[in-house]
Amino acid sequence: MSTIGITRRDYLAGLGGGAAAAAITATSCKRKETKPAQPAEKAAEAPPPDHERRIQWWRQAKFGMFVHWGLYSVLGRHEWAMEEEGIPVAAYEQLAKQFKPKSNPARDWAKLAKRAGMKYMVMTSKHHEGFCHFDTKLTNYCAPKQGPGRDLAREFLEAARAEGLRCGFYYSLMDWHHPDGARCANDEQTRRRFVDYIHGQIRELCTNYGTLDILWYDVAWPLDAQGWESQKMNDMVLKLQPDIIVNNRNLLAGDFGTPEQEIVAEKEGRDWEACMTMNESWGYHKADDNWKSPKTIVRNLITCARDGGNYLLNIGPKPDGAIPEESVRILSTVGAWTDKNGSAIYGAERCKVRDSLFANFSRKGNTLYIHVHFWPGDAVAIGGLQTKVKSARLLTTGKPVNFKQEEFRVQFTGLPATAPDNPVTVIAAECESEPTQDMQNIRKNRPREQVGV
Ligand code: GLC
Repeated sequence: MSTIGITRRDYLAGLGGGAAAAAITATSCKRKETKPAQPAEKAAEAPPPDHERRIQWWRQAKFGMFVHWGLYSVLGRHEWAMEEEGIPVAAYEQLAKQFKPKSNPARDWAKLAKRAGMKYMVMTSKHHEGFCHFDTKLTNYCAPKQGPGRDLAREFLEAARAEGLRCGFYYSLMDWHHPDGARCANDEQTRRRFVDYIHGQIRELCTNYGTLDILWYDVAWPLDAQGWESQKMNDMVLKLQPDIIVNNRNLLAGDFGTPEQEIVAEKEGRDWEACMTMNESWGYHKADDNWKSPKTIVRNLITCARDGGNYLLNIGPKPDGAIPEESVRILSTVGAWTDKNGSAIYGAERCKVRDSLFANFSRKGNTLYIHVHFWPGDAVAIGGLQTKVKSARLLTTGKPVNFKQEEFRVQFTGLPATAPDNPVTVIAAECESEPTQDMQNIRKNRPREQVGV
């Protein structure tokens, strides 16, 4: 788990105020209600109109690529370097001239995303540092007018679309570069000016780039939803982009929740997406070598699918746009797995079977997918299954698997001694009804008397 969440939390809390706290809770999605929600708050908890129609594709998609790229990539010390190292704005601004990406790196990102089995991409259009990848009339601090000399946001969208991937923008409300970015909390005139700037940029993004599939807001410090005029923001976005989905980080419910660096399902009926880094940094960090294994990534994807969520996995390209070699290696392995086993992931529904010491699960209709990550040998046993298994097969080969079902367990037998697939082998079991699991039945009712020993 990343420690940046804590650092950031401390940082924002240190700056004080309820709005900071609100920003933190919305970001980490761990809001704790101390009093019953008021009607206005309740309305804010509902997704925007037409949610069911707009979110359909995303529910099927399950797996997306997050891209954090900006001036911080030039430093290569994490995307929070400006704030955490206290770099003066004037010094940091110099990076905008040094930022000279190679031609069209997003093509490689999109190809890799496709190969990894990802179905959509989200790129930072402006991170907290305030630098914009897109063409904006509202500041000169943007890619077309600085080192890159071209519109990197457009390049990104074109690359994603060329691979048939859905795509959209991350956009940070918090802005460390804009002179009003912090003091907007202090007086009304400044707030008005800054909120107009932010809404103006969001309008540009939603007007100048064709159909966007996603708008991914981030950190709302230092204002609250009222201060940001978040309702008006969402209304504008949906008017300009009637098919888009928006997240919850402008402090409204949005179409989906955004647990960060952890996989925590939201309540049934609520869409969610766990976003996660492959090492500990979102932006390029030369020295961060704490990479997750491909197996961990695959297991995380399965957990998201099991609990009805999506997995948005990050790459932090280098300043020239090249993808860190380790990320390519990890995603290539993940892709080889999704290529063969994707049918157990895409379109999966919430699965009530969860308990095993060596496997995880996903489900589509009455089909239970048993994802074995620690291969036990020639038999795989699952306890407490509450439905009848009708047939079973190895997902990749379709080869039938024998099984024996008893009251407290089902055993899949005659399997190879070593795992047939890597890093996770999937057994698909067709069941008579939606598979559920009752471990309490084992705990309470499994006979415990000794028989002839
Ligand atoms: C946090 C971080 C940020 C990152 C984001 C992704 O809010 O501040 O650097 O972009 O999470 O979820």
